[in-house]
Amino acid sequence: MIPLSLKEVAEITGGRLHGIDGATAAALVVDGPVVTDSREAGPRGLYVARVGEQLDGHQFVSSARVQGAAAAMTTREVDELPCVVVDDIQEGLASLARAVVDRHPELTVIGITGSSGKTSTKDLLAAVLATAGPTVAPVGSLNSEVGVPLTVFRVTPQTRFLVVEMGARGIGHIRYLTTMAPPRIGIELNVGTAHVGEFGSREAIATAKAELVEALPADGLAVLNADDPAVRAMAARTSARVQLVGTTGEAAIRAEEVRLDEAGRPAYTLHTPAGTAEVTLPLHGEHHVGNSLAVVAAALECGLDLDSTVRALATATPASRWRMEVSQRPDGVTVVNDAYNANPDSVRAALKALVAMGHGRRTWAVLGSMLELGEESTTEHDAIGRLAVRLNVSRLVVVGDLARPMATGAQHEGSWGDEAVWVPDADAAHALLSEELRPGDVVLFKSSRDAGLRWLGDRVAGEGAEPTADVDADDEPADDNMEDAP
Ligand SMILES: Nc1ncnc2c1ncn2[C@@H]1O[C@H](COP(=O)(O)OP(=O)(O)O)[C@@H](O)[C@H]1O
Ligand SMILES: [Mg+2]
Repeated sequence: MIPLSLKEVAEITGGRLHGIDGATAAALVVDGPVVTDSREAGPRGLYVARVGEQLDGHQFVSSARVQGAAAAMTTREVDELPCVVVDDIQEGLASLARAVVDRHPELTVIGITGSSGKTSTKDLLAAVLATAGPTVAPVGSLNSEVGVPLTVFRVTPQTRFLVVEMGARGIGHIRYLTTMAPPRIGIELNVGTAHVGEFGSREAIATAKAELVEALPADGLAVLNADDPAVRAMAARTSARVQLVGTTGEAAIRAEEVRLDEAGRPAYTLHTPAGTAEVTLPLHGEHHVGNSLAVVAAALECGLDLDSTVRALATATPASRWRMEVSQRPDGVTVVNDAYNANPDSVRAALKALVAMGHGRRTWAVLGSMLELGEESTTEHDAIGRLAVRLNVSRLVVVGDLARPMATGAQHEGSWGDEAVWVPDADAAHALLSEELRPGDVVLFKSSRDAGLRWLGDRVAGEGAEPTADVDADDEPADDNMEDAP
């Protein structure tokens, strides 16, 4: 974090000091890690004791001290560390994050939102900006009211760029995030059907996502995906300059002649006000084209030139797991693990990438359910099954009860025999694949996060050679982020 005395932390958060007098607190500098997990605490850091549903963070203050933390932020007095006692930890996090950003005027904050692609775009943008200066971006998918401030606290006096992923589970969420990390550049990727169930309607999702560009200052930049009408319409909701990106003529930052190579990696001709360039992306799937255009817009605004931006794009590697993660087995089977999450748009994008990678090879789509679609659930699953048939995917394996309409949709669309099958769970899918995968096949795993397909994908990717140790359920790492929001 940028250096603050514990006294300043108390002033910023409106908290009171406990276990330390004012003069000592004024001399106690906190500039190490600010964390809510005591295991991540470190020297000169601040441990923030949250009270969760399962655990009370106050129980771990002494373990934070053992890790070297200098102080704690708490909601009650504890004696193991000097502390700042606040009324509300969330508000404490929010005001401290805002103070960090305000005290670092040279920092450029870039916010990213959208229904799909936030994390992918965040990783890509961070990789590009890092070539120009020290960059902080969330680990994994930390995009909530806790994840955002924790990301902000990683800013140091050297940091030049802060990339913030902003998710929303309802109206007002993104506005709140922008109060903690006020962006100068805001990227709006898309307004999808993901989580319609939670929001009630697509319009409500658009309203929630627009809060990012509403928060931009007049000298800021709104990067809008012109290919998505709901995003294009957000131009009316911002006082910032607008930069349209996309494939339509209207977009000043535009991709033309988009093509996918045999590994499903996109290339295109990039047109920008700063010139034209050929872009190749080392990532898989056409959806990265739109994401990369937004990255170009933000990078140019941050002062990078076109050449270095395009060069950085060409060498970016996927930083977060289970997003179109491609691995080659020794027996020639290609595994595409895109099972981080799924919604109708991202499943369509993944199926198209699978088919591009097919090229005469047998293609398998192992698809689990898409959650949080509310009343649309059956129709959306049915539509995916039909699309798989229309795209000529060789084999569709539908996993789990909720996803079942995919299999019936595929059958109604004319799939016959064992082209489209339904299995109850990931183990049954594994049994089927073990039996029937052949060298040279390409197999895609995709589902919402709970369906066990990430691990199935990892497991299948590790097979096809000498017998390997099975990954069993006990090895599942804890979810990388329990607070990921769409
Ligand atoms: N622009 C996009 N449109 C549709 N799907 C996308 C897009 N970008 C990424 N995806 C897919 O959406 C899924 C979630 O991607 P991720 O980057 O984690 O998005 P988010 O952080 O918004 O949940 C992945 O399967 C990914 O392949
Ligand atoms: Mg994310």
